[in-house]
Amino acid sequence: MPRALITGITGQDGSYLAEFLLARGYQVTGLRRRSSTQNLHRIQHLTGLSLVEGDLTDLASLVRVLDETQPDEVYNLAAQSFVGSSWQQPLATSDITGLGVLRLLEAIRTVNPRIRFYQASSSEMFGKAQTVPQHEGTPFYPRSPYGVAKLFGHWITVNYRESYGIFACSGILFNHESPRRGLEFVTRKISDGVARIKLGLARELRLGNLEARRDWGFAGDYVEAMWLMLQQPEPKDYVIATGETHTVREFVELAFAHVGLDWRDHVVVDPALFRPAEVDLLVGDASRARRELGWRPRVDFPTLVAMMVDADLERLGGGRRAGYSLGPDDGPTEAGPAPGGRSGTGDGGRRMPHRDDAGREGGAPGGGPG
Ligand SMILES: NC(=O)c1ccc[n+]([C@@H]2O[C@H](COP(=O)([O-])OP(=O)(O)OC[C@H]3O[C@@H](n4cnc5c(N)ncnc54)[C@H](OP(=O)(O)O)[C@@H]3O)[C@@H](O)[C@H]2O)c1
Repeated sequence: MPRALITGITGQDGSYLAEFLLARGYQVTGLRRRSSTQNLHRIQHLTGLSLVEGDLTDLASLVRVLDETQPDEVYNLAAQSFVGSSWQQPLATSDITGLGVLRLLEAIRTVNPRIRFYQASSSEMFGKAQTVPQHEGTPFYPRSPYGVAKLFGHWITVNYRESYGIFACSGILFNHESPRRGLEFVTRKISDGVARIKLGLARELRLGNLEARRDWGFAGDYVEAMWLMLQQPEPKDYVIATGETHTVREFVELAFAHVGLDWRDHVVVDPALFRPAEVDLLVGDASRARRELGWRPRVDFPTLVAMMVDADLERLGGGRRAGYSLGPDDGPTEAGPAPGGRSGTGDGGRRMPHRDDAGREGGAPGGGPG
């Protein structure tokens, strides 16, 4: 039975990747950091998943975990992943999102250099995009501390492949969303807002730049690409994207139309939520992944929007039926499935304040377009 270790197991991608690998007969261990509150809502439905404690800032913990679990494959999904917060916490972001990759690679080199390694790189590394669309050869120009930290993670992955012969791949993933996306990200902010308005729990939705364009895919499709990269004869880096862009406005229109509402009656554009420095047009060219991995996205944009709105309606409607008081930041908690029968998959459980109109993987300080 192949063994996989996933860092970032409590996050959106960690939960989908764990599902994917468990379904393929893997023995899966998730690395989670110590938390004073419960944050297992996205993975509590999974049977057969083991959890170990460790932290990307603690090399000793990574060496111990690799030694104890002896994985064949390591997927490094852990990061301070929110662009907006990277301006607020640039050093912590660099330490986790950048240096954390190096610590994990050092742990692999020490414990077992035959481990296959996946690094979760990001389209944010293209930032001020030098060409459109972006592919594996496009020069990088990150526009946030997050993007800079990811770029370090990318290059140190390439460097350990070239220096030590480690089977290390960097997946340069464009935005991918799902009902399990954190509420600080703009797509989820919209789906949650639409559901609240439809259910009479809110009247307006405040957003930033509606004209910002993004290449949005479905997270469940993207984790398959991660796995495919580690099954190839040679380690390489791949762009994973849909190749389509849509504006925030299109997302908003579709989301409101899905529940029979007109977005113009509810959306308030708030200039305070614009990013001070926007990235340029990010749209990915995933032709290498199509050609070499046989990967292609399955869920299209309208289906993604509908899926997210439906999940938030279910979550909030279920909470209401179960007698929850749903204030602006109230609702089902991360501690477990709500009474009244929600699945506990995390498809809509995370409670976060709506301070940011987050972008793709985050917004600017004070918000930004998505
Ligand atoms: N989603 C996208 O569109 C996208 C696109 C490109 C790249 N990425 C990258 O892909 C990865 C997965 O994305 P995601 O959307 O699943 O992110 P996410 O939901 O924010 O999950 C991030 C995960 O990292 C964990 N983590 C944070 N700091 C850690 C530390 N010091 N030690 C150990 N674990 C730590 C978090 O744990 P807690 O629960 O304890 O916070 C969480 O499990 C991230 O690296 C992200 O930057 C995402």
